Amino acid sequence: MSTAARTFRELYGHAPEGVWAAPGRVNLIGEHTDYNDGFVLPFALPQRTEVAAARRTDGTLRLHSADASSGVVSLDVAALDPADPPRGAASWACYPAGVVWALLEAGLPVGGGADVHIRSEVPTGAGLSSSAALEVATALALADLYGLALTRPELAALARRAENAYVGVPCGAMDQMASACASDGHALHLDTRSLEQRHIPFDCAAAGLRLLVIDTRVKHALADGAYARRRASCHRAAAALGVPALRDLPYEGLEEALALLADPEARKRVRHVVTENERVARTEELLRAGRLRETGPLLTEGHASLRDDYEVSCPELDLAVATAGAAGAYGSRMTGGGFGGSALALIDADAEAEVGRAVAEAFRAGGHAPPRITAAAPASGAARLL
Ligand code: GLA
Repeated sequence: MSTAARTFRELYGHAPEGVWAAPGRVNLIGEHTDYNDGFVLPFALPQRTEVAAARRTDGTLRLHSADASSGVVSLDVAALDPADPPRGAASWACYPAGVVWALLEAGLPVGGGADVHIRSEVPTGAGLSSSAALEVATALALADLYGLALTRPELAALARRAENAYVGVPCGAMDQMASACASDGHALHLDTRSLEQRHIPFDCAAAGLRLLVIDTRVKHALADGAYARRRASCHRAAAALGVPALRDLPYEGLEEALALLADPEARKRVRHVVTENERVARTEELLRAGRLRETGPLLTEGHASLRDDYEVSCPELDLAVATAGAAGAYGSRMTGGGFGGSALALIDADAEAEVGRAVAEAFRAGGHAPPRITAAAPASGAARLL
């Protein structure tokens, strides 16, 4: 029996009906493009969140997390309300509760409730989508328990709805789609408008490469308003340029579009989004051609664009990227929403120890807390384990 199933039984006095898992993600490239109907290229991490669960019939949702001190949080399913979410020590329960609320809102019959135990390996606040992992694992568990015929993109959409409307974070489609739909050994090319997916082989090990994830340990908080402000300024710029979304601006027409914008900040934001969509396309081509090393400069260009034009980096991310580059990385960039969280670096497999040491030493010299450095390889999306 898995640890999650065993703990479930100890907590609730009966066995779970199943255990489901969904991974965190790293975004290789395509940052702050998903709420502009643009393109992203994430892959799933091997670290996942497990949800052991069983149906109830009395309309109660009991939630427990191995990582929280709050004990079992018991909620009345019929009373779930985004205006009155679990707070304080129980605020982690917003994610699974939000998923149940989103399923009900969509008219799906999950009103009986459930007993749920959660156990996660995805670090929180590291820009690796621990919240999407929890939402998607919960959505998959509920869908299976209640026999709901939902596709992976539908599950991802419900998970995102929970995050947007119940948790209150206005994220785009990338994280939940990556967690729900990614496949082992592949990056997921996603058109966030049509939700068309392409699974692109991405095997670093076979090419003698490693992808390092450098968690700066600087906690990012997307809910603090900076993310929502970036999003709003993109939507205003699209309206000013007369396009449905910034995705509709062709890379070739970028200079003309920029000339139409009076606000220098809007020009910078638009330049990031349009050039980033182009970098996603070029990265996909290089991966398909097996020219993995050549994606490096695109990663590093993407970082400069996020730092200078989109202004979502921070000193620790910049230090990680600069140090990895100086230590021989082919390319490096922040990944995820920014303002902290993680950077990634594409390096030769045999340079792992050296680059890791250089980054750790630079953080020490800069007076920063030690970063957490791991190697990542594309893993599979959400699945039922038991
Ligand atoms: C966060 C959001 C995503 C995406 C990224 C930036 O991770 O949850 O939807 O917008 O930031 O690319």
